[in-house]
Amino acid sequence: MIYLKSDAEIDTMKESGQLAASTLKMIEEYVTPGISTLELNNICHDYTLKHNAIPAPLNYKGFPKSICTSVNEVVCHGIPSAKTKLKDGDIINIDVTPIYKGFHGDTSKTFFVGNPSEKAKKLVETTRKSLYLGIEEVKAGARIGNIGAAIQEYAEAEGFSVVREFVGHGIGTNFHEDPQIMHTGKYGQGMRLEEGMVFTIEPMLNEGHWKTKVLKDGWTAITSDRKLSAQFEHTIAIRSDGTVEILTELI
Ligand code: MF3
Ligand code: CO
Ligand code: CO
Repeated sequence: MIYLKSDAEIDTMKESGQLAASTLKMIEEYVTPGISTLELNNICHDYTLKHNAIPAPLNYKGFPKSICTSVNEVVCHGIPSAKTKLKDGDIINIDVTPIYKGFHGDTSKTFFVGNPSEKAKKLVETTRKSLYLGIEEVKAGARIGNIGAAIQEYAEAEGFSVVREFVGHGIGTNFHEDPQIMHTGKYGQGMRLEEGMVFTIEPMLNEGHWKTKVLKDGWTAITSDRKLSAQFEHTIAIRSDGTVEILTELI
């Protein structure tokens, strides 16, 4: 079931999205060698509460922390921990989702810690660009499969693989709603996008094979070959007049 949003609801979702985006901007200066992912979690948690919002991940289906921190071979859903300290050359995705005025804003970004290898930098830059190529396919009346097709075509041409097991999602008063947004696919396939839809696009690209596995903690997804993975995420809305807006891009 897809819940279409009114322009007034999208206005409120933009406020949640802007808070999510400002959280990532705020945390950037702390992403340095020596800090633990638990410290990053705590700073984001406090910032969210201070802005009258609730961190959606905390206790979501049993997730124990307020943000996801996914370092190097961790694909997504990394659990912040005092034991995980950042080192020079790491890459780390930080995924934040505040609930503000009842609506979720979901965004993530992969940061460099110090100076990563050229290969790591290329993976991260390709992932960021693949997200924007996916966003360019968002139009009222266009096929949903075009989003994944554009991401996959570019990622694979650059020599990377696209994770299949985790997808983008509709979002609103619920964290995860229909439709699912695949990051692979074929042009011209799937349902048509329409006015009022709000959803995330959140491609994960791997240096090696696309396959992932989940650790015994039940959350942490890693690449099956332990090679690097990167991710970027935005929340996108289609307004009643067909305008496409990136709600989580800071204005
Ligand atoms: N923010 C993630 C997403 O993009 C979901 C995290 S679920 C959690 O969909 F429980 F791990 F927080
Ligand atoms: Co998401
Ligand atoms: Co997210």
